[in-house]
Amino acid sequence: QQQAMIRNFSIIAHIDHGKSTLADRILEYTGALSNREKQEQFLDSMDLERERGITIKLQSVRLPYRAKDGKEYILNLIDTPGHVDFSYEVSRSLAACEGALLVVDASQGVEAQTLANVYLALDNDLEILPVINKVDLPSAEPERVREEIEEVIGLDASEAVMASAKAGIGTEEILEKIVNEIPPPEGDPDSPLKALIYDSIYDAYRGVITYIRVVDGSIKKGMKIRMMATGKEFEVTEVGVFAPGPIRREELTVGEVGFMVASIKNVKDTRVGDTITDAVHPASEPLPGYQPINPMVFSGMYPVNSADYGDLREALEKLELNDASLRYEPETSGALGFGFRCGFLGLLHMEIIQERIEREFGIPLITTAPSVIFHVYKTDGTRVEIENPTHMPPQQEIENVEEPYVQAAIMVPNDFVGAVMELCQSKRGNYRDMQYLDANRVNIVYDLPLAEIVYDFFDQLKSGTKGYASFDYELIGYKSSNLVKMDILLNGEPVDALSFIVHRDKAYHRGRALVEKLKELIPRQMFEVPVQATIGNKVVARETIRAQRKNVLAKCYGGDISRKRKLLEKQKEGKRRMKAVGNVEVPQEAFMAVLQMD
Ligand code: GTP
Repeated sequence: QQQAMIRNFSIIAHIDHGKSTLADRILEYTGALSNREKQEQFLDSMDLERERGITIKLQSVRLPYRAKDGKEYILNLIDTPGHVDFSYEVSRSLAACEGALLVVDASQGVEAQTLANVYLALDNDLEILPVINKVDLPSAEPERVREEIEEVIGLDASEAVMASAKAGIGTEEILEKIVNEIPPPEGDPDSPLKALIYDSIYDAYRGVITYIRVVDGSIKKGMKIRMMATGKEFEVTEVGVFAPGPIRREELTVGEVGFMVASIKNVKDTRVGDTITDAVHPASEPLPGYQPINPMVFSGMYPVNSADYGDLREALEKLELNDASLRYEPETSGALGFGFRCGFLGLLHMEIIQERIEREFGIPLITTAPSVIFHVYKTDGTRVEIENPTHMPPQQEIENVEEPYVQAAIMVPNDFVGAVMELCQSKRGNYRDMQYLDANRVNIVYDLPLAEIVYDFFDQLKSGTKGYASFDYELIGYKSSNLVKMDILLNGEPVDALSFIVHRDKAYHRGRALVEKLKELIPRQMFEVPVQATIGNKVVARETIRAQRKNVLAKCYGGDISRKRKLLEKQKEGKRRMKAVGNVEVPQEAFMAVLQMD
């Protein structure tokens, strides 16, 4: 019987610990990858992903494997994204598996993100198989890492596979363990259909392609199906598997992993975590664990050239087709004109979207500093959610403001404990816990305001620890804080896109630092420009950008013409990212300056 021969698994690893390389070895060993395709790592498909070395879109691949017991097994490797921004997607792709390989770099040890993903796997009752990778490295310390896995994660690592994905050591042992230790899928072939959607992508010709794991029953072409969370119904036009290219199949049965197409126009109709059932004989309950995904970080995106507004809307529409977690709505700024307020899962998600708009759609953007959602309780008894600092009610109408907090786990070598604690304290953190992982490494836990993390927390953590820290966080809820809105005035006019919300104790310092930074960033104009930071009507800091003295071109007259042209071109290039605010020319960096303060 086929169900008993299926093994569904994924690979959990910190960035750079060798997940893609190991996946390639496994594909190669099972013969799923021809030599021609071998040159490129299979699992990461988007360009941007490769450049950043992260996995954004999940994929799966079906591998035939003849084990040492002489039987033919079907292994489904389901890819998971590795970054905290995508932790819900990670948890759903893990929910599609019965087991996971835990890959740990023998020279690095367990990292914060690995730990977070292992907990997700344990929550989903997966069988976890430790793999200590890169044992070929001279700096490898497999025994130390084995102990660390046991002590930090509490897993039995005595049977951990010692592997080198690069040198191809340990691949067969890993495959044998998958077959022998990961249980086959449970599930009833005769029950009504239940299939978990663990990812989806938009294809211009076929509409949405969903990636699914059949948990009960089966799904075939022509069937009428219903999405249990959204209630939407469709007719299945195609099902199949990836091997690794897409191959059409008659049906997908219990325990199988593959894709489903049903003329679906929008990825929002196929939410990750939702359950697909038979519209005619529906299951009574969906699979557990579905959550609507809510953006946590917001920023304004404006075209540099107002004429690009329509193109920007089209770009967002296209990106949204492929990205169910992206939100946007039109927004108008006095300073920047017409644009969009966009919501993202986190900072990395935000950067990826901005980069794609600029690169794939060729639209130069001005983006405003990221903000979080504040809960504002007003004196009239109402509550408003503020995702744009500009919309903060006046101070006298505010009773109380709450901001989102996260619990952050930071792993560092001993030497940097002081630096990390100092950083967390300066970011208004509350100390929670500290554990020694081994003689040399420490896990530090702090509660921190998310707003401080979206400032420059990552950069400061990296520079304060020489790049040795690893970091992970999860939202823990809202807490009251003494927050105020700070406005920036250029030439006496408030610039809405520069407003931000800050803790009262830090307001003076941030205001001071920001006006100094703006003085540096905004080029001299033909006239003197005062830069002021205010809270309510009170000016807390002021600088002056002095008037420009000379025409830049003056010194070129009489000189050689090509030099003059070069200078003009350079000016034009610089101008591309300038926005006229009132009669002051402001460069893009000024709108992000608030992020580089402390
Ligand atoms: P992301 O895709 O960024 O999540 O990284 P990954 O975990 O998929 O790591 P990847 O497979 O891209 O490997 C990261 C680096 O480690 C690459 O330069 C690999 O060549 C190298 N690497 C992977 N496995 C081994 C190994 O067993 N030994 C050695 N020496 N290097 C390895």
